[in-house]
Amino acid sequence: MLIKQNVSDVINAQVVEEFAASMQYLAIALYFDRETLPELSGYFHLQAQEEHGHAMKLLQYLNDAGAVPAIGAIPAVKNEFDSVEECIQLALDQEITVTNQINNIVDVAVKENDHLTRQFMQWFVTEQLEEVSSMSDLLNIVKRAGDNLFRVEEYLSRTPHPEAAAAAAGA
Ligand SMILES: [Fe+2]
Ligand SMILES: [Fe+2]
Repeated sequence: MLIKQNVSDVINAQVVEEFAASMQYLAIALYFDRETLPELSGYFHLQAQEEHGHAMKLLQYLNDAGAVPAIGAIPAVKNEFDSVEECIQLALDQEITVTNQINNIVDVAVKENDHLTRQFMQWFVTEQLEEVSSMSDLLNIVKRAGDNLFRVEEYLSRTPHPEAAAAAAGA
């Protein structure tokens, strides 16, 4: 195995976090579906897929490095919400927590002189900048729109999801 056990352990723990994030975004998307907010719902269904992709990327890395990928228990997520703002705030807090977790994995890799993992994790470091920045923008838009959620839907309808925009650009 190319990586140490403690590095493999923190990556396996992150797999659970990414799946939990995916489930949380799915629960938020379903709330938006119930509230008939199709743009917000679509945005969060995409976010859920993206987090699933992050978990898969980590599992694939463990496999490639000769470690044993293990999927731990995924904690229950929040399914009931009182407002759109509450959902977006939860999403932003979650992205900030994930950013700290990613930084911690890089710290462990650096401590172990594990340059392979350090380099692999750089993709996630950069991804978190986009995730926190776009969620923080969305929270500002939601706050500014107040009770007029049509404004938020309108904003999202002309602002492509970052992932969809990257795919369209062939990235
Ligand atoms: Fe993620
Ligand atoms: Fe994320």
